[in-house]
Amino acid sequence: MKNILLTGGAGYIGSHVANLLIDQGYDLTIIDSLITGNKTLINPKAKFINCDIADSKYISEILINKKFDIVMHFAGLIRVDESVKEPEKYNEFNFEKAKIFLDTCFKYGLKKVIFSSTASVYGNPIHNNVSESDELNPLNPYAKTKLKLENFLINKSKYEKISYIILRYFNVAGADEKLRSGLISKNSTHLIKIASEVAVGKRDEIIINGDDYDTKDGTAIRDFIHVSDLADIHLVSAKYLLDKNQSNIFNCGYGNGYSIKEVIDTYNKILNKKIKSKIGPRRPGDSKMVVADPTKFNKILNWKPKFNKLDYILKTAYEWEKKLKSS
Ligand SMILES: NC(=O)c1ccc[n+]([C@@H]2O[C@H](COP(=O)([O-])OP(=O)(O)OC[C@H]3O[C@@H](n4cnc5c(N)ncnc54)[C@H](O)[C@@H]3O)[C@@H](O)[C@H]2O)c1
Repeated sequence: MKNILLTGGAGYIGSHVANLLIDQGYDLTIIDSLITGNKTLINPKAKFINCDIADSKYISEILINKKFDIVMHFAGLIRVDESVKEPEKYNEFNFEKAKIFLDTCFKYGLKKVIFSSTASVYGNPIHNNVSESDELNPLNPYAKTKLKLENFLINKSKYEKISYIILRYFNVAGADEKLRSGLISKNSTHLIKIASEVAVGKRDEIIINGDDYDTKDGTAIRDFIHVSDLADIHLVSAKYLLDKNQSNIFNCGYGNGYSIKEVIDTYNKILNKKIKSKIGPRRPGDSKMVVADPTKFNKILNWKPKFNKLDYILKTAYEWEKKLKSS
């Protein structure tokens, strides 16, 4: 049995990955300060340590007392709009603290890392399906901090025996089939989360940020990946890193682009009612179209998604939102 250390396990994606790892029999320790996370999402079978990732004294004690085979680093701040207003805060949480944490891990011999990066490192991609070797051009402070940590790992691996898998997530959405976890954030900027809140009556309407993009219907286009497929990508990546000890960077998306209007229309069909929407201005730092070329991961890891249907993503997001409302 392998021991895994996971930061951000009280958050949306980290909790899904934690549940899958526990299901698969891994020994799991979660570090989370609960700054944006939620205690109810933490798998009770994991060991939970409530601390900041940059508390190197505490983290050192954890690493001295237990040997881990791999660290999965999810903890961070995720709001693009907030990062535009408070770039220093984002640099501190997503880069400086993460660097302190990872250096502490390396110091105590934990040298295999899976890092949650983002498709926003590509900025406004020139290709319809962006691949890992395409130009990087982060347009907002959030994306810049993620790219800085990518580069930190890449540079470190040149002169230290560390290995990493950098996973660039596209738009993560949906919820666990068993509804053990889902997105809780009150101030989410995620399209499907907001649409779900409108669908269950928690919000009055959804604002479509810009309908004057150069796309088929004027609204931005994104690649939505179900969070349970993303969790599986982490499991498969962990096995690969443990087995082969080879560093790599992978896109995590399906390669299908849906416009914001298409997502809302599909939701309306599923619910058989209309989600109230309104056109608003573009958000600063938003890109026109961000869709993955997922070939690299699928080929090298011989992986196939299980949940790549927009209907399924929306249905699970809706069920989760209903559960939250009734609890
Ligand atoms: N949600 C997405 O669509 C998406 C897309 C691309 C990348 N990502 C990345 O995936 C990761 C997880 O995202 P998420 O949606 O689950 O976010 P989330 O906000 O739900 O979870 C982040 C967790 O990290 C914890 N945390 C933050 N700073 C911490 C610190 N200094 N010490 C300890 N714990 C800390 C929070 O309490 C929270 O539980 C993030 O790194 C994010 O940048 C997310």
